[in-house]
Parts: sequence; structure tokens; C-alpha cells
Amino acid sequence: MTKETPFVYRFVPAGGASAPPLLLLHGTGGDENDLVDLGRMLSPDSALLSPRGRVLENGMPRFFRRLAEGVFDEDDVRRRAVELADFVDETRQRLGIGAPVAVGYSNGANIAAAMMLLRPGTLSGAALLRAMVPLPDPPHADLRSVLGGVPVLIASGQMDPIVPTSNSAKLAEMLLEAGADVTYRTLPVGHQLSQADVVLTRDWLERVKKRTVQSA
Ligand code: MLT
Repeated sequence: MTKETPFVYRFVPAGGASAPPLLLLHGTGGDENDLVDLGRMLSPDSALLSPRGRVLENGMPRFFRRLAEGVFDEDDVRRRAVELADFVDETRQRLGIGAPVAVGYSNGANIAAAMMLLRPGTLSGAALLRAMVPLPDPPHADLRSVLGGVPVLIASGQMDPIVPTSNSAKLAEMLLEAGADVTYRTLPVGHQLSQADVVLTRDWLERVKKRTVQSA
């Protein structure tokens, strides 16, 4: 068995103490640089941790293997979600940052959703942009928290040719059943990220920050 290389990642230290760290997870074919500007726009004071997916599909980085578009290799999803959660836990302890809020796009949103279901506790929240159900039958996860449910934003695109809104709505239901505090929005866009995603995610993050401060 060949030993896997460690995660390649970028880290941007926090500009202030009050903002939660963001874990930035790119889409298929992206890398650790892709979402750094978005992360800065969403929360200028947050530390940013941005790993590159270690699976290659025709040379394009991803966070887990798929068999076809929208058909995932479930064993690989499970294995990679745990690997990424281990990386996040170890790296954040080494860097001295708290549990991050994931901001994931497409494949990155799907691995973030898988991490929430398989390793609740690794993330303190997640903005899932164009996400779909990563595993049809995940183990029972407990996403309740002292603050009343781990905050999750799911933003799907009405005209998305890759992720039907029925699928992202199913993911919202799964996370809700696990006790998460889910905000589900459908935007009049396709699979690509839009300005509406930026505004929606920034406002949602502001509410998450206020909730954290009020309960501190
Ligand atoms: C996936 O995880 O495969 C996504 O939903 C679609 C993509 O990344 O292109």
C-alpha cells in the first residue's frame, strides 16, 4: 500500500478574536487557493484553513471519489470524511484555533455534509453551497449543541443541472433530524456561485457570530 501524501493547505491567521475560523472546501478541479478571497469577503477577521482535496479525477482535485456525476463511491466518502476530520482536528490544535465553520462549494460542500454526519463535533457550523446528500444511509448523528443546534446553511440553485433541489432539500431534512439548526434557501441561479450566495452566506455568518457572542 502506498502512503498518502499529507494534505496541502493554506492557512491565513485571524485578524480578530471574535470571528470563528473558516474551513474552506473547494469544488471539483479547485485547490487550496480557490475560496480564500471568498473567505476574506465573508468574514474578514476569521482565520482561514483551506485544504486541497487529495483525490484526483482526471487530474482534478476532489475530496472523495465518484463513480459518475452525482453517484458517489460511498466507502470512499466515509473514509475521506474521517481523514479530513482528523486533519482538521490535528491542524487546528497545532495552530491554536477553535472548531471551524465550513464553507464548502459543490464537492467541498458534500464532504462537509459527510463530516457533519460522520464526525459531529469537528465543525462548529457549515455553509453548504450546492450540496447534495453525500450518503443515503448515514449513522445517527447528534448535531444538537448547547446553543440549540449546530448552524447549517444550505444554498441550492433553482436552475442547477447537477444538484436537483429535491436532493438538497433531502439533505436539509437529514441534518434537521440530527438536531442541526438548518437554514435552507433556493436561489434563482445554477451550479456556479453567485453574488447572492456571498450576501446570503455573509448574513448567515453574522447571525452565527451574534448567537455565539450572546451565549458566551
Ligand atoms: C460532487 O461531489 O461530485 C459534486 O456534487 C459535483 C461536482 O463536484 O462536480
